[in-house]
Amino acid sequence: MNLDIDLAVIGGTGLYQLADLQDAEPHQPVTRYGALSGPVRVGTLAGRRVAFLARHGEGHSVPPHLVNYRANLAALQALGATRVLALNTVGGITERFGPRVLACPDQLIDYTWGRVSTYCEEPGTEVLHVDFGDPYTPALRRRVLDAAAVAGVALVDGGCYGATQGPRLETRAEITRMRRDGCDLVGMTGMPEAGLARELGLDYACLAIVANWAAGAGPQVDEVITFEDVLGNVAAASSGIPPLLHALLAG
Ligand code: HPA
Repeated sequence: MNLDIDLAVIGGTGLYQLADLQDAEPHQPVTRYGALSGPVRVGTLAGRRVAFLARHGEGHSVPPHLVNYRANLAALQALGATRVLALNTVGGITERFGPRVLACPDQLIDYTWGRVSTYCEEPGTEVLHVDFGDPYTPALRRRVLDAAAVAGVALVDGGCYGATQGPRLETRAEITRMRRDGCDLVGMTGMPEAGLARELGLDYACLAIVANWAAGAGPQVDEVITFEDVLGNVAAASSGIPPLLHALLAG
């Protein structure tokens, strides 16, 4: 069912709905990939048709390694989405990415394992080796960055997202290694989502919301990261998202 969706938004931890999505109707298209995380809510935002899907389910019940990324993206595409903005809650590793920062990364490193990470494994499907040098669609990133500038929302341009398996947080040694590898941000849901979006030919960009310093990365090296801190910082940083989305959709 093609609903002519201008933008699909996938919400992460702490982001289970889009506040100003009007007249939203739930849709749950059936795809060959099984159940998606929950209903796709399609409504109107800034005069445009927008779809929203909570990646972890609306009650945060699906852990990162069990998210059915294939079903989620296939369902958004089945509804007519061609552009996806992924909201990802992350930890910050390097200096520019402290708690409450919003960032639009331009690179990623995948440390996940054991996840179903391709559409190319059904018998008879052609195996695609999609180009992934720029894992996020440059034109969509540009639009997100321009929208943030128009809306006056501070957004860090660039950074490397390291995708870890979770659901536990990382050790300090793991974060030290990730910093050495060149990661600026760490999260658990960036992959395989970005790779699958590329296989489907969807435009895809990430809006990362820094919830905490990653283990050992902040000024207090032995700081314990609590879920309450994470949610508090996500809520505070998320105030920039509605104006950014309005500018993005208006542009
Ligand atoms: N590590 C991995 N994922 C995260 C973190 C983190 O520190 N914070 C929020 N999501």
